[in-house]
Amino acid sequence: MAERYDAVIVGGGAAGLMCALTAGRRGKRVLVLEHANKVGKKILMSGGGRCNFTNTGTAPANYLSANPHFCKSALARYSPWDFIAMVERHRIAYHEKELGQLFCDLSSKLIVKMLVDECQAAGVRIETGHGIDALHHGDGDDAPFRLHTAHGNVATPALVVASGGLSIPSMGASGFGYELARRFGHRVLPTRAGLVPLTLSGKHQERLHDLSGVALPVTASCNGQAFSNQMLITHRGVSGPAILQISSYWQPGDDLRLDLLPGRDALDWLLAQQRQRPAAELKTVLGETLPKRFAQRLCELWLANKPMKQYNAPELKQLAATLSDWPLVASGTEGYRTAEVTLGGVDTDEVSSSTMQSKRVPGLYFVGEVLDVTGWLGGYNFQWAWASGHAAGLAV
Ligand code: FDA
Repeated sequence: MAERYDAVIVGGGAAGLMCALTAGRRGKRVLVLEHANKVGKKILMSGGGRCNFTNTGTAPANYLSANPHFCKSALARYSPWDFIAMVERHRIAYHEKELGQLFCDLSSKLIVKMLVDECQAAGVRIETGHGIDALHHGDGDDAPFRLHTAHGNVATPALVVASGGLSIPSMGASGFGYELARRFGHRVLPTRAGLVPLTLSGKHQERLHDLSGVALPVTASCNGQAFSNQMLITHRGVSGPAILQISSYWQPGDDLRLDLLPGRDALDWLLAQQRQRPAAELKTVLGETLPKRFAQRLCELWLANKPMKQYNAPELKQLAATLSDWPLVASGTEGYRTAEVTLGGVDTDEVSSSTMQSKRVPGLYFVGEVLDVTGWLGGYNFQWAWASGHAAGLAV
């Protein structure tokens, strides 16, 4: 005999737990199946252990998707302020770091505890350490999804796929959601690592790798998008928030540019330096505004170093162009091992934007990162997980 649940949620991550507690509060009988040994592992490791749980500036423009309109409805119906209200109800202290990014003062564990407590209060059953061994779907039944699990057989009219993307396999990430979507005839758009460090190779890597650990503010631009924030040089390439952000818009072969003097007109600045300190060498002048070792390296390999007064007008113009539009030739990304998110995924054209229900298979839902909706760095991905989980939790 199969045990009947109103909804079975596969994946006890951010979106799955939010969907579960929302449905549970409506009196639905809900089972969460999580194959890792505990729920919310990515929440625990997020934000350096302090979980950047939302962004107060969340807007549809902060998301990448083949259908940029898809995320609008769910985001409008569950805002950052709704999640903040729950955080405050649980007396979790938080602060804004920058740019609307809210972090726990103490630990991400508090966010997971809050979600689990809410699930418990709503009567949700959570099973960890087990996924689905087999899944059958029968038409015409009032509970058409039949699942074999280590805890026995389960039947449900609503199967919610909340199994996330492919990033950080060691934390439980799997391609389960994509395989299940394909099995039910859903299109899955090509996936790739997003919010991920970029790698350099050959002479590009040789020229920078010994500067590993050096950080500087840049504006990184690619394919019509630009992000101003810190860049960090690593042994393998470049990372830091500006690079992670632009990585989601970059693909091998794309032109990626860095403004090394963000917020300044490079030519005006160089002219002012020439007027004020004609005898100073370029590397000295640059070394006072950029990290010294990086400025030296620029002057050794990319810019001709000499006293400021010796640059003529065309040379200054050329210097300004190089400093404000420096081409960075990346060879690839560090991949899913270190990526924060997976771009692409279940095509949103075949999913209802208000309920997250499949338009092909009644009772099948997709929430969170498994869908082709990917946020910028800064709390947007959790906000999507909360909003899409909430939308499905109201519908199952
Ligand atoms: P999520 O990955 O959270 O959950 C999916 C769950 O399904 C997992 O628990 C997994 O084990 C389980 N699962 C997979 N296959 C299964 C199967 N076959 N059976 C049963 N269970 C299965 N975002 C943000 O907004 N702010 C931040 O600070 C960060 N920080 C951050 C740091 C790091 C290191 C990473 C990797 C990611 C972030 N993110 C982030 C991104 C954020 O973690 C991510 O977008 C959300 O967790 C996505 O929520 P989901 O619930 O969709 O997937």
